[in-house]
Amino acid sequence: MLVIAIDATFIPMSFLNDRGELDGFEIDLIKEVVKNAGFDYELVNVEWGGLFGGLITEKFDLVISSITILEERKNRMAFSIPYLQSGVAVLVHNDMENVDSLEQLAQAKATIGAQINTTSYYYLQKYQDINIKTYDKFAHAVIDMANKGNDGVVGDSVQVNYHFNNRKELTQNARFLGSRMTSEFYGIVLRKENIELQQKINASLKALLANGTVQRLHDKWNLGDFAVVPLPE
Ligand code: ARG
Repeated sequence: MLVIAIDATFIPMSFLNDRGELDGFEIDLIKEVVKNAGFDYELVNVEWGGLFGGLITEKFDLVISSITILEERKNRMAFSIPYLQSGVAVLVHNDMENVDSLEQLAQAKATIGAQINTTSYYYLQKYQDINIKTYDKFAHAVIDMANKGNDGVVGDSVQVNYHFNNRKELTQNARFLGSRMTSEFYGIVLRKENIELQQKINASLKALLANGTVQRLHDKWNLGDFAVVPLPE
């Protein structure tokens, strides 16, 4: 029995639906991947800050949560082959006039929100003069922007786009600054020593990429141009 951890705060990737069940692109995907690999499984909802520690201490065996494959993370954990290409996107409050780049946000000494220890947070760290405000959940950064607690937010482009289109009450006074700013690949995360499991997950995922299943789920969840299904290797 594989225990799979998911941070269900990332609609439409993974979230709790009206019936309180785990739902979303990554829920559908991981079910297909493990079933196709022949495993029984259990899904658990774990907050972002607890995912990597809980995996390493064997509370669960797999994590899927829009996690970007990074070299630094590979020192501690193993990744599957990529299932999605995405990146970060930036929303700024309309009060930030005449600002069209991160450099200009830095010049204005803007306060920009991001979820802690994410690639969005690392992205902002490149701009010394930006005041980074961190949040446990991406949605909290967006709520804070609506309340003028920050001047803008950086997040995974699918989430940013979702909030821009579906949480108008929060984002009506904001605009996109540019488009997708980075190219990142999402992978399923495993413990380093689980080499056999990694091979089985990769084989299963590869088949689902090749037979169009991943693209079908991308279409079902309307991920649009903000995330792209990679070609199978
Ligand atoms: N892709 C980003 C990263 O890996 C953000 C992931 C955040 N995911 C989440 N479910 N909260 O750093």
